[in-house]
Amino acid sequence: MNKIFRKKPIADLMAQSQNKDLKRVLGLMDLILLGIGCIIGTGIFVITGVIAAQSAGPAIILSFILAGVACALAAFCYAEFSSSIPVSGSVYTYSYATLGELVAFLIGWDLMLEYVIALAAVATGWSAYFQSLIAGFDLHIPKILASAPGSGQGGVVNLPAIIIILLITALVSKGVKESTRFNNIIVLIKIAIVLLFVFAGIKYVKPDNWTPFMPYGFSGVVTSAATVFFAYIGFDVIANASEEVKNPQRNMPIGIVASLAICTLLYVVVSLVLTGMVPYTKLNVGDPVSFALKFVGQDSIAGIISVGAIVGITTVLLALLYSQIRLTYAMSRDGLLPKVFAKVHPKFQTPFKNTWMTGFIAAGIAGFVDLTTLAHLVNMGTLAAFTLISLAVIVLRKKQPDLKASFRVPFVPVFPIISALLCIYLSLSLPSITWICFLIWITIGTFVYISYSQKHSYLNE
Ligand code: ALA
Repeated sequence: MNKIFRKKPIADLMAQSQNKDLKRVLGLMDLILLGIGCIIGTGIFVITGVIAAQSAGPAIILSFILAGVACALAAFCYAEFSSSIPVSGSVYTYSYATLGELVAFLIGWDLMLEYVIALAAVATGWSAYFQSLIAGFDLHIPKILASAPGSGQGGVVNLPAIIIILLITALVSKGVKESTRFNNIIVLIKIAIVLLFVFAGIKYVKPDNWTPFMPYGFSGVVTSAATVFFAYIGFDVIANASEEVKNPQRNMPIGIVASLAICTLLYVVVSLVLTGMVPYTKLNVGDPVSFALKFVGQDSIAGIISVGAIVGITTVLLALLYSQIRLTYAMSRDGLLPKVFAKVHPKFQTPFKNTWMTGFIAAGIAGFVDLTTLAHLVNMGTLAAFTLISLAVIVLRKKQPDLKASFRVPFVPVFPIISALLCIYLSLSLPSITWICFLIWITIGTFVYISYSQKHSYLNE
């Protein structure tokens, strides 16, 4: 009993973050761009269309706002943690310091699922835009190799999604790192592409397309919010980068909240224009943003957008793979996962085996599972993590009232409680199969903790 509630001392965490060779080089602007770089991807470029067609209609903008509010509240909680314990590892680390080892392990276990499946989901979006682009040159991948079964497009395996994940894995396993400057350029391209769509599309908006505004009722809006939530995932990379940030106490919270605010604004505007240009019933396609422009005869702009989307989504893949490796590396370093996850390759100086294991699993999933199913699972994992981080803020305030933090969640415990309830509310609209998969995964995790992690934890020493 004592073991499962034991906590990692905050002093240990701070010490771990001090003796790293990581340099503090990221400024506020870098941080905001890092966040936006991981947030904007398959969610806005693909899921918006599918969900507008299937369960929200033009009211998808309300779904984006609802999901955005839930994320903003959770982001406040992230911000308080990241400004008081600026150590990488994100929710796993924060819960290790506040809620105890078992919860920390389970949340790490939950995030492992989330990152791997998110990699697969984002690769599916990449595949759709890649196919849209080559179709412009009259090149087509055979139908059975073009999408996963269950996506309704007659596919058996999504080959481009598998290939892109393996390529990214090969790069990361050899130690290829995105430089901050490169990331910033790509993110600016991505924002430019989104704005290009808005400005090119706005003149084709027909307000008639916005009626009926809420064809699936308010329950459709909530169900859709639980799915489009996917589009916001990624701001936690900012919390993960804390050891590389200049003046983390100030920059982390501003970076998290600012990147989320900018993305929410872009999402609302894009979904308004998209559903205004094309009747929502037609948007159930893999590349809705390009599709809408082709629909109004702007083929060349559609081509530019596809290229931008492919480049932009690639950086999300890189970020997700890094997040997964950093997380499993941290858990393995703490003794909660086998040592192989932290084993560094002698030549490349990277957790080589860890990277390839992750890559193979994600590629296998991307090949055979459709995007909506994947997005639901990712969201389930994320909502669980957000619920816990919200509760952890309340515990942190109680247990460590003197801990210095440059950002504090207002109105504790009311705000974190609302945040947790909103996340639970959204997760309740996810399909029961998602809940079943999630619960099976967590049950396996509990067994792994009892039979392995508890016995090998570094805290035993
Ligand atoms: N938010 C990220 C995306 O939409 C995961 O691709």
